[in-house]
Amino acid sequence: MSYDSAMAALSNDALKFVKNNFVLGLGSGRAATTLVKSLAFLIKKKNYNVVGIPTSLQIKLIAQEQGIPIIEPDQVNQIDIVFDGADQIDSQRFVIKGGGGALLRENILFSMAKKIIVMADKTKFVKNFSRTVPVEIHPLARNSVSKSINKFGGKARLRSLERGYPFFTENGNIIFDCDFGIIKNPKVLTQKIKQIPGVMESGIFLRKPDIIYKAKNSGKFEKILK
Ligand code: A5P
Repeated sequence: MSYDSAMAALSNDALKFVKNNFVLGLGSGRAATTLVKSLAFLIKKKNYNVVGIPTSLQIKLIAQEQGIPIIEPDQVNQIDIVFDGADQIDSQRFVIKGGGGALLRENILFSMAKKIIVMADKTKFVKNFSRTVPVEIHPLARNSVSKSINKFGGKARLRSLERGYPFFTENGNIIFDCDFGIIKNPKVLTQKIKQIPGVMESGIFLRKPDIIYKAKNSGKFEKILK
């Protein structure tokens, strides 16, 4: 309840940046879902002519259900604001994404954004990254990428669904959740990962958000600016 109320409150604050005719990137996950529901309310209230670009089928379904017009990223050159969640945020303001498997599309949208707004609860904020890094890879590169991750000091685990079936992304790829322990230099690590042939995307994004919202207890939130 306290997560929900904080997310709802910070979503409404984040939506103050939205203007009529804006093109908006819609991230995936719980935080993005709350934002999209509040966005639908805002569009109706202000009669805005706004379109959303989804990063996954998950958020596309929510947006469509809420009556938000949807387009694809290749129909525009730029996105006014991307709203998204994060799996972890370090003290340098780098983010880890891809917990839901939408990292490739999420990073494409980050690269097209004039402004990026990330929303996360306080448990996601750390000094140095300490969780696994999702890495999307072409299925044929499974063994070669695993070896390279190993060389970089990581352990690659294939993401699976219940009963052991491999998880496939919406792009037909598989995901390794890679354990590198504590990550002190995320920029160098992600650059190395992205150079491995067969890697489609790394969950450590090089572009930092412009604004980060931290959801706190009892419906409160903090706004962290660049
Ligand atoms: C999707 O692949 C992820 O990058 C999500 O944005 C991330 O997992 C955050 O999700 P929650 O808002 O559900 O925590």
